[in-house]
Parts: sequence; C-alpha cells; structure tokens
Amino acid sequence: MLPELRTGMERQRIVVFTGAGISAESGLRTFRDSDGLWEEYRLEDVATPEAWHRDPATVLHFYDLRRAQVIQAVPNLAHRAIATLERCFHVDVITQNIDDLHERAGSSRVLHLHGEVLKARSTVDPSLVTRINGPSLALGALCPLGSQLRPHIVWFGEEVPLLPEAAELVSRADRLLVVGTSLAVYPAAGLVHYARQGCPIVLVDPGEVEIRRHGVTHIKTKASEGVPSLALDWMNERD
Ligand code: APR
Repeated sequence: MLPELRTGMERQRIVVFTGAGISAESGLRTFRDSDGLWEEYRLEDVATPEAWHRDPATVLHFYDLRRAQVIQAVPNLAHRAIATLERCFHVDVITQNIDDLHERAGSSRVLHLHGEVLKARSTVDPSLVTRINGPSLALGALCPLGSQLRPHIVWFGEEVPLLPEAAELVSRADRLLVVGTSLAVYPAAGLVHYARQGCPIVLVDPGEVEIRRHGVTHIKTKASEGVPSLALDWMNERD
C-alpha cells in the first residue's frame, strides 16, 4: 500500500522540535555557534523589550536584515524530509525559528514558539498581527489602532504565549525528533520534559547537546544528513 493511502489508520504522532541548526544549511546563521549572531550583536541591544524602548530603529534594522536573508533562503533536505513524514504520520512541527522554511518545505502544522520575522504586530493589541510586505518594517509603520508595529518576535524576558500549546503537543507525541538546537534557552528547552515516559527521543545535531532524559538517541550529524535518513527509516518501518 502506498504510504499516502493509509487514511483509515490511526496515525502515530510525531513532534519535531527544531532550532536554528536546521536552517544553517539554508544559509541562515545560528545564534551560539562560533560564527553565530550573538557574537556579532549583543542580544540586549536587539532582542529585548528594553532595547525596543531605548532604540527601536536598531531593533528594526536587526530584524530587517534577518527578514531579507529569510526571503532569499530556501528550505533544505532536512525541512523537506520533515514535510514528507506527513505521508505516514501525524506531524506537528514546533520551531524556535522565526523563518518560514518549514512551511515552504510543505509542513502543514508549524507552531512558531519565538514568533515569525515575516510578520509584525501592534504594540497596543498583540492580537493584531499582519504580514510584512517586503524586507523592511519602518519606524512609523502603524497598526489599525494607530500604534507603531513591532516585529512579531518573542524577545528575551517576554512570555512565550504558545508554550502551553507546544507542551500539550509534546505530551501527546509517540516520537519526538529534536533538530539543531543548543537547548540553551528556556522555557523552550524544557519542552522535551513533557514527553511521556517511554517516548523515543531522537536528537539530530552535530554539537554537544545535553538532554537530561533517558532514552535519547543522539545522531551527531548535520540536519541535511541525519534527518532524511531517519525519516526514511521511520517511513519504511510503517510499510
Ligand atoms: N545541522 C543541525 N544542527 C546544527 C547545524 C546543522 N547543519 N549547524 C549547527 N547546528 C546546531 C548547533 O550544534 C547548535 O546545537 O544548531 C544549534 C544551534 O544552537 P543555537 O544557536 O543556540 O540556536 P537555538 O537553539 O535555535 O537558539 C534558541 O535562542 O537566541 C535565541 O530566540 C533565539 O530561537 C533562538 C533561541
């Protein structure tokens, strides 16, 4: 039977939790690797509410640069393999990334824990979210209520509004795949602890990432190598 035709079966639930490493091979820099963004910028200057109040132009410029690069980037083999898993499994992607490469690769359920660089939101009503047309968000660009638009990003020190939804998804997962994250930033990094006892956890990351849980398999390769071959194994298991 073709994998796509398994409509009547109860599908296993896979949750894929990704970080900057999955987009590294699409040309988007990570944060904490040796050439990472936090070597070039102080996060206190560009990714906090205080920075926004002190110097919004600098913050807007930082995200304009990120947005321009995201628009140029294309999904890589790892993004595509995750999308392909949907042929056999119910797949939810939880990403810390602000790019849209999972969506462009074809994933249909993507939760952006730390926001989306291609969107802006009102500074007085966070429910007013709009897509940014073009690479830049200008000082003076206003929401329908007349307040300045800000990048639709969760900054350091801010609440993570989608965390409860993400934790619920992880707690219902039959398998958890973690890709390309240093797990250095909480509360996102704590999500792995919501996996139920016995849920197999696979980490694909070439770095020394520590997950303090039993039953973690660490595939120490780049995402474009490790994720497609794992996805193929998992899909073949189902045949
Ligand atoms: N394939 C897979 N993983 C890779 C690759 C690659 N080709 N290249 C690098 N990595 C791994 C690194 O080994 C590291 O573990 O990607 C990880 C990147 O870690 P960080 O730079 O800390 O990125 P991330 O974990 O996503 O950061 C979390 O921090 O600054 C904030 O809000 C920002 O969402 C971000 C959060």
